[in-house]
Amino acid sequence: MKSPITKAILLVGGKGTRLAPLTNNTPKPMLKVAGKPVTEHQIVKAREAGITEIVLATSYMAEVFEPYFGDGSRFGISIKYAIEDQPLGTGGAIANAASQLNLRSDESVVIFNGDVLSGHDLHAQILLHHNRQADVTLYLTRVSDPRAYGCVPLDSEGRVLEFLEKMENPKADTINAGCYIFNARSLSMIPVNQVVSVERETFPALLAQDFSIFGYHDNTYWIDMGTPQSFIKASADLILHPELSRATEVTDAGYVAEARVSIHPTATVGGGSVLSDGVTIGAGARVMGSMIGSNAIIEDSAEVIDCYVAPGLKIRNQAKYQGQILDN
Ligand code: GTP
Repeated sequence: MKSPITKAILLVGGKGTRLAPLTNNTPKPMLKVAGKPVTEHQIVKAREAGITEIVLATSYMAEVFEPYFGDGSRFGISIKYAIEDQPLGTGGAIANAASQLNLRSDESVVIFNGDVLSGHDLHAQILLHHNRQADVTLYLTRVSDPRAYGCVPLDSEGRVLEFLEKMENPKADTINAGCYIFNARSLSMIPVNQVVSVERETFPALLAQDFSIFGYHDNTYWIDMGTPQSFIKASADLILHPELSRATEVTDAGYVAEARVSIHPTATVGGGSVLSDGVTIGAGARVMGSMIGSNAIIEDSAEVIDCYVAPGLKIRNQAKYQGQILDN
């Protein structure tokens, strides 16, 4: 069945400060997860749900997106770019990008935060939005410790009751999982050319004005790649569970290796590791659940578990690391 929504915006302009040093030279959405940029996983997910046209809302290092994604034809989708000279925040970015979509008054648009990977059923979220004739429909997920997030409680019909800020004793464990649908009317409420936060300003303002906001609750895989540890985990998860993203090239080896990688026959590599271009793994070394940057060398008998190893770095003979960001 043809999707009732065919347009999307991807928010990819944030600085990703929490992910430094990984984001010092690459914007977070262009960092590779399971061998492909985060944004590529999202583009493929959007396409699978029937989206045909995407605007990338860029700001920080805006120039790196177009050379990779081009006009989108390589991905079977049309891609345009909205560039903010000064970052406009999530809401301002949405308003700026929407101006390129020529939305009809009866159309809606899917919006993705550029740092979330999920196994949620986007098509089902779109259908819920369409069938309920909602103004906004948010994908919500349940987390075990909601204190670090704003919570979004629902009534028994699935309508959003409140947008709660982070709090010590949250009233609900459902949180905004970073993929929401706006109809044209709710989009037009976001001021243009202004810095606006969709989470802190737009959602509460729409609720206060009685817009109908629904939650689409889905508890399948979800990860926010805001920190280096969650980023490393997301990459390993996608390699070990390739069904989570059609952009992942399926391998049963338990790792992804780019070109010119050399692995000694007595070394062990797995757990969803990524070995970038030119990596060398020495005799008896063990690399599990880790992201190894291009041309890095893991010397003999070294052990690297759940780590990020910066490009060109040498991990010495017999050294042992677990859960660390290893930079120069
Ligand atoms: P931190 O600096 O580590 O908090 O990360 P971030 O800059 O990515 O901020 P945050 O995680 O709050 O952003 C959520 C999503 O919105 C990410 O995909 C960002 O790329 C995107 N985003 C945040 N601010 C802007 C902005 O001003 N413009 C655009 N185009 N996107 C933004």
